[in-house]
Formats: sequence, C-alpha cells, structure tokens
Amino acid sequence: MKNSSYGRRRFIQHTGAAGLALGAGLRSDAQVPERKIKVGLIGCGSVSGQYLPNLKACPFVEMVSVCDIRSERAARRAEQFKVANQYPRIDVMLAGAPFELLVNLTDMQEHERLNREALAAGKNIWSEKPIANSLAAGQELLATAQQKRLRLWGAPTVVASPQFAFMAKQIAGGALGRVAAAHAHYGHEGPGWSSFFYEKGGGSLSDLGVYSLTTLTGLLGPAKAVTAMVSIVTPARKIEGKGRIEVTEEDNAMVLLDHGNGVISHLQSSFNYFNPHGHEGREETRHTINVVGREGWMGLAGYDWEPHGVDFATKAEPKRKRHAEDAHGYVWQGGASRAAECLATGRETPFTPEHALHVVEIITAARESHATGRRIDLTSTFKWPVIT
Ligand SMILES: NC(=O)c1ccc[n+]([C@@H]2O[C@H](COP(=O)([O-])OP(=O)(O)OC[C@H]3O[C@@H](n4cnc5c(N)ncnc54)[C@H](O)[C@@H]3O)[C@@H](O)[C@H]2O)c1
Repeated sequence: MKNSSYGRRRFIQHTGAAGLALGAGLRSDAQVPERKIKVGLIGCGSVSGQYLPNLKACPFVEMVSVCDIRSERAARRAEQFKVANQYPRIDVMLAGAPFELLVNLTDMQEHERLNREALAAGKNIWSEKPIANSLAAGQELLATAQQKRLRLWGAPTVVASPQFAFMAKQIAGGALGRVAAAHAHYGHEGPGWSSFFYEKGGGSLSDLGVYSLTTLTGLLGPAKAVTAMVSIVTPARKIEGKGRIEVTEEDNAMVLLDHGNGVISHLQSSFNYFNPHGHEGREETRHTINVVGREGWMGLAGYDWEPHGVDFATKAEPKRKRHAEDAHGYVWQGGASRAAECLATGRETPFTPEHALHVVEIITAARESHATGRRIDLTSTFKWPVIT
C-alpha cells in the first residue's frame, strides 16, 4: 500500500481555499481551519510510515506524541516526523502530553485492549482494523464511547472513495436492474515483517478480506447470514528478525454472504495467492469487485482501497465504459485525518464504527461456520445505504 498526503483537493473542497499551496505551515491565516485536534499515535511500524505524512499534512491535526513498545521505532518516527513526545507504553503516553485522538496502528490483537484503555482515559479513537476482536467487545467499546461522548472509528475507509460512491449510486438508481450477486477477491503471498498476521485474531480475512467485506456490505447492505470455508495452506512461515513461526489463524478463505432479498455475494482472501504486485497492490488492474444484476454489470478496477475506476456496462449501453477515474482527494490512509477533521469541524465521515463491527462479526462468523459446518445468522447491522 502506497504513500500519499492528506489530499490537496480534499482540503480545498472543505475550506474553499482554491489555489492554495497545501502542506503543514503553508496556509494563509484566512484559511486556517476551525481548530486542530491533538493526536497521539501508537504503533510505529510499517503502516505508520503511510499515516504520518498524511497526518502531518492535515490542517486539522497537531501531532503531539508517538508510542511503541519497541522504543527505537517511536524514536525514529518522532525524529522523522518532528513529533515532540515519544513513549514506550500506552499508560505512560496517556499520562504524558495531553491529546484528544488516539491513532492505533499496533498489532491486530492489541487494538481492543489499547482502545479500551484509551477510551477510559477520555480519548477519541481511530483504530486500524479491527476495532476489537469480537462483535460483543466492539459493541461494549462503542457503548463506552457513546456514554463518555467520545468518538470511535475503525479502518478501512473504502466507502469514502468516489468509486464506491459511483457504484452505490448506480445500484440505488436501478442501473443494474434487479441486483443478483457480487464477487470480491484480495490476496498476495502475505506480509513477512510481523508474525501477528498469522496468529489467532490475525488471518487473511482480518487483514485483507476486511476491505472487500466492507465494500460488499457497503454496496449490497448488511449481511443476514454467512457460510464459509477457511484453511491454512502454509502451516509455517519465516518472519524477519524472528525466524520460523507456526501459522495458527486461517491464511485462505472463501466466504458467502446472504444480503437478503435474494442477493448473494462472495469473497475470497488469502496469503497464498501469487500476485506480481505483491503487498504494493496499487498496480493491480484486474476487477477485484464485480457486481451484476439483470440489466447491468460493474467491475471495480484495482483494489477498493485505491481503485483506478469503475467499468460499467448495461443492456441499454452494452459497450463497457470506464467511470470515476479521479480519486478526488481520497486516500486509504486518510481515515485518521478524516476523524480529526470530523472532531474539529463536525463534518461526518461516511465510515461508521457500526459498519466496521458488522464486518468483525462476519469474520468471526465465517470461522465459526467453517468450524461447525453451519450457516451462521448475523445479529449486527449498520446505517445503510452508506451514500445517500
Ligand atoms: N503495513 C501496511 O501496509 C498496512 C496497511 C493497512 C493496514 N495495516 C494495519 O495496520 C496495523 C499495523 O500493521 P503494520 O504492518 O504496521 O504492523 P507492524 O508490525 O509493522 O507495526 C506494529 C507496531 O505496533 C507495535 N506494538 C505492538 N503492540 C504494541 C503495544 N501494546 N503498545 C505499543 N506498540 C505496540 C509494534 O512494536 C510494531 O512496531 C495492523 O492492524 C494492520 O492490519 C497495515
């Protein structure tokens, strides 16, 4: 996944500051936003290198602190991005320089515990996926946030792309006729820098499938039930600096979703797919999401986190045409900046914690379906349609 800044057009769009040279410190006083949100970031590994340039360029963010249990990583990011405070543990960070929004970029299995601790200390949260390890735990975190008048958000941000909006509008407007089915795929040979991806609570569904599941449910509505098969294709892996580890969470998955009203979708995700684009999947040109109805078809070119456009054909216009090629300032690593913008201005985000938790429920239900051989009914839902 590739680097990008906050998004020049996004700032201009929201401030009316046309012709502005964007970047921290480059604004004139007339365009200074309402207020800046003090941000603390925990987890200074791979993805922090994508988030920090975006946060530093965001006019609604003041970076206050960074934290990592590997203190050399916090020190490196503090120096690289000129962040004044660095900490080795969350309790020290929470007791240190004050901030309002925690950006949680730690191991997937750590999010729930750290999010809970930060909420208790009165912080708003932007969390990488997942917000929590189970639906019940996530709902408890959300209830705590609401009770304390705090906000809680979780990745991914795929519903914020103009390509998602285009697809959602075609479906809602009836351009595909009666929608029947959708298919999504996301895979590569798996990350090699951390073992948590392969341990319980990690897996290809939590790391990769989560994007497609957010798009499929965002387009077709909350799922009512799940049937799935999952497997471990590669039982042992080599991890940088760690050597050989045992794989204990699925690294290969096939999931079927029932969206009600006859609409069925399917996702496949894996850490065992040959892919010439590897982890840097932005060069992917295949359709990774396909939606089909009685009157039309749409294919999303590239991955939903950084799509290139939407190919579209209908009975009325069967010659395939590409639409929505412009990102309009959307970048996948912009979720924490959008959260800060929401706190500063009240402008709501299209992504919601309820949607993120619905996807957590789908992932845990998929594993339960495989383990029991049963179709699993889902209980959670979220505000849909996402785009109105
Ligand atoms: N790497 C990517 O391109 C990418 C892209 C999108 C999302 N993500 C998500 O971002 C999260 C982090 O992934 P990553 O690739 O950066 O992993 P990583 O292993 O490179 O970084 C995680 C960091 O968190 C630190 N950490 C773990 N537990 C901690 C704790 N209790 N307190 C403080 N620090 C702690 C680790 O020391 C490590 O430096 C995951 O949820 C992943 O799914 C990663």
